Amino acid sequence: MIDLHAHVLTGIDDGPKTAIDTLAVLKQAVSDGTRQIVSVAHANDGHFDVTREVYDKAFAAAVKEIRMARLDVELIPAMEVRLGPKMDEGYRNGDFLAIGNTHYFCVELPPNDFPAYTLDALYKLSLEGLRLLIIHPERNRGIRKRPELAERLIRMGAMGVASGGSILGQFGPEVEASAWQLIEIGFIQAVATDGHSLAKRPLRLSVYEPVLSRRYGESVAISMLTTTPSLVLDGAPVELVPHPRIGWRRWFGTR
Ligand SMILES: [Fe+2]
Repeated sequence: MIDLHAHVLTGIDDGPKTAIDTLAVLKQAVSDGTRQIVSVAHANDGHFDVTREVYDKAFAAAVKEIRMARLDVELIPAMEVRLGPKMDEGYRNGDFLAIGNTHYFCVELPPNDFPAYTLDALYKLSLEGLRLLIIHPERNRGIRKRPELAERLIRMGAMGVASGGSILGQFGPEVEASAWQLIEIGFIQAVATDGHSLAKRPLRLSVYEPVLSRRYGESVAISMLTTTPSLVLDGAPVELVPHPRIGWRRWFGTR
């Protein structure tokens, strides 16, 4: 499995606080069957505001720890960039990192609103040749209230990546319902852990496999946890296909 979104670097945002914590969450991911992790850090959010310099240093340290501990996992660099009107400028200046060597770029919307400039700012960013991954869109109140905004994002070619906790209901029933709805209309194409720590938000992707399988079938679960994230890491196109829920009759009939 490939985790498209987790905070594993030491002491730079709300992820692990010490190198020991970093190793512990990485070991958790490895023992769960994850072999590649997009290692994000919060940028442009007015709180952590991780800079390239700070990020690069923490990333290099984590890679070194992995090598020393001989862990079978690869970290891919990326930033989780909070929506702002000038994200395109920040990207041009080299302040923000896309995922690895790809044109996929992670944007986090604010939880409570969908500012009037949002579509414009995302469009300007996509003009930089980037394909936007909207991180946990189900946690944005604006999209929950007006799901048609997701259609606008789809038309822009943006893709959603849900947090696993959302489909388990850990952020409440509204967020959970929104996650399923966004999967069913084809906006959300992958589920990631958004892991931060061993217990509170663990790096255990396998937990989501049966939940997705029950609802959409095994092939959709595999595509959301492995195949689509792998296309992203290759910089290959991902089609925004809707995933209709399997009816009970069909579900029983195919098993
Ligand atoms: Fe995150």
